[in-house]
Amino acid sequence: ACTVHVNGRRVVSCLTLALLHDGDEITTIEGLGTPDAMHPMQAAFVACDGYQCGYCTSGQIMSAVALLKEPCGPDDASVKELMSGNICRCGAYPGIVAAIQHVRKHS
Ligand code: FES
Repeated sequence: ACTVHVNGRRVVSCLTLALLHDGDEITTIEGLGTPDAMHPMQAAFVACDGYQCGYCTSGQIMSAVALLKEPCGPDDASVKELMSGNICRCGAYPGIVAAIQHVRKHS
């Protein structure tokens, strides 16, 4: 749930010492888009029902956006492997994978 971007790469913020990132570019979910102008990944999560309670959603989306710049095979299994560090206790995984694949295919 705490995934953020440090210089464009995903980082688990709860295990990261902020002092080590003085001067780095930090992006949180609030930096991706707005309710009126969502990032394509945020819009895809809405369209594909990629969430239920929303607790994990900010981290899922931040990780998913970073995944777009990482080497990843084209199939769902590859996406699941790269997203395996993000846990969803609601089990919204099918929608999460669908959202990511939607963005990968349309961007
Ligand atoms: Fe509830 Fe993921 S949507 S934990």
